[in-house]
Amino acid sequence: MRLVLLGPPGAGKGTQAQRIKANYGIAHLSTGDMLREAVAAGTEVGRRAKAIMDAGRLVPDEVMIRLVAERIAQPDCARGFVLDGFPRTRAQAEALDALLAERGERLDAVLEIAVDDDALVERISGRFACAQCGAGYHDRFKQPEVAGVCDVCGSREFVRRDDDKAETVRARLEAYQAQTAPLLPYYRDQGLLIAVDGMAEIDQVSAEVLEKLEAAAR
Ligand code: AP5
Ligand code: MG
Repeated sequence: MRLVLLGPPGAGKGTQAQRIKANYGIAHLSTGDMLREAVAAGTEVGRRAKAIMDAGRLVPDEVMIRLVAERIAQPDCARGFVLDGFPRTRAQAEALDALLAERGERLDAVLEIAVDDDALVERISGRFACAQCGAGYHDRFKQPEVAGVCDVCGSREFVRRDDDKAETVRARLEAYQAQTAPLLPYYRDQGLLIAVDGMAEIDQVSAEVLEKLEAAAR
């Protein structure tokens, strides 16, 4: 299964992608995570991306397309993948179509996680993640079962993202509206778009995602 998750910053793409990965045994490809790893490792891509990400703007298409092309050629993507944060521009969407066509593959579905702007700011400002395994949490909506201990790996170290400051979040929302939201009609026209209500609770969103994916596969 080959999926794309579309939705504004904080919509729950990463949260749902982790569950889709667990459910279908496919790879989770978060371009935001890939860039943050490149920044932490101090690679050339990371050095180029850091200032752009901190400003809430989009990293150039050619950088992103190369990153994703290399990633989907890895063996763990053979059974499929869920793309989280890519494509984000028309050029990226067209490059993805071409990349898959070359491999004799195509997307099965594009899931739109729709969430109101006010809720996004609240979700982003309360977000934190395990510093060891990356599991995602929220101050209000998803606390670890034992306070201060990761449910998944038991680590006691957590991190917050540099680009989750209020000014940067505004720029990220603007970038989404201007550059990424136009992909909704692009995929709707291809008959691939499936909308889910991202305002519901996390488990309910997951249930709707799985139900709609099963229905689409029939
Ligand atoms: P990226 O890392 O992709 O960030 P984003 O799109 O802004 O999305 P987020 O990761 O902030 O949100 P999410 O939808 O994953 O939400 P989450 O599940 O965490 O990109 C970062 C930057 O990298 C970009 O700004 C850009 O500079 C660059 N970049 C990346 N890809 C690029 C590309 N293709 N081209 C160019 N540049 C690129 O949920 C948020 C919080 O809410 C969590 O705490 C979660 O627990 C909670 N939550 C989730 N669902 C619910 C729910 N239903 N109810 C209540 N709380 C919930
Ligand atoms: Mg994310």
